[in-house]
Amino acid sequence: MTGAGITTERLRGERPRRDHAALYAQLFGSDDVAATLWPPPHGGARSPEQAHELLAQDVAHWDSEGFGPWLFFEAAGARFAGHAGLRCGTVGGAPSVEVLYAVSPDRWGRGYASEMAFAAVDRARALGLPGVVGYTLTTNHASQRVLEKAGLRFERTLDHAGLPHWFGRLSFAQIS
Ligand SMILES: CC(C)(COP(=O)(O)OP(=O)(O)OC[C@H]1O[C@@H](n2cnc3c(N)ncnc32)[C@H](O)[C@@H]1OP(=O)(O)O)[C@@H](O)C(=O)NCCC(=O)NCCS
Repeated sequence: MTGAGITTERLRGERPRRDHAALYAQLFGSDDVAATLWPPPHGGARSPEQAHELLAQDVAHWDSEGFGPWLFFEAAGARFAGHAGLRCGTVGGAPSVEVLYAVSPDRWGRGYASEMAFAAVDRARALGLPGVVGYTLTTNHASQRVLEKAGLRFERTLDHAGLPHWFGRLSFAQIS
């Protein structure tokens, strides 16, 4: 299945829409989330206007690529859980598709990031992409664990935005 939505064992992912602006502002306006996404000197928690721009970028990504990040909600009760999925970009000078995720702080420690990352990797494979990459601050051990559990393997330490990052990759190419 490669439609716009996605379901996992406990979560339901929706393609971002303009009326998700308040959820973007809540998630990306969180100091806890910003601490690892935009650590000093990268600006910290995003303003509602900046979060709205992030939403607009996700909407545009879906429009141009046919895939992207989802907003995830708990299947039981519909509580907001986070933002995760796939994004095209240039990492370490090479075009690639990145697995990304940010979980609402009140939902941390429940395995949700791992569940979201698995779903993103599965979708990348179903879309026929050659593989995915992931990178996270070398100090973000929980995020490294999420990427490893999703099947990515450490490739190198990468300087990204002036900070050292763990960089990993999962290739789907068949060995013949
Ligand atoms: C990092 C983040 C995504 C983790 O979300 P989560 O839903 O709590 O993660 P999970 O529950 O799926 O599991 C994380 C794994 O890391 C492990 N972990 C947690 N804290 C850890 C730590 N300090 N050191 C090592 N491993 C740790 C957990 O035990 C778990 O592994 P396990 O299943 O083998 O036990 C979440 O804290 C977050 O959204 N942070 C802000 C945004 C962010 O950093 N995103 C990633 C940027 S690349």
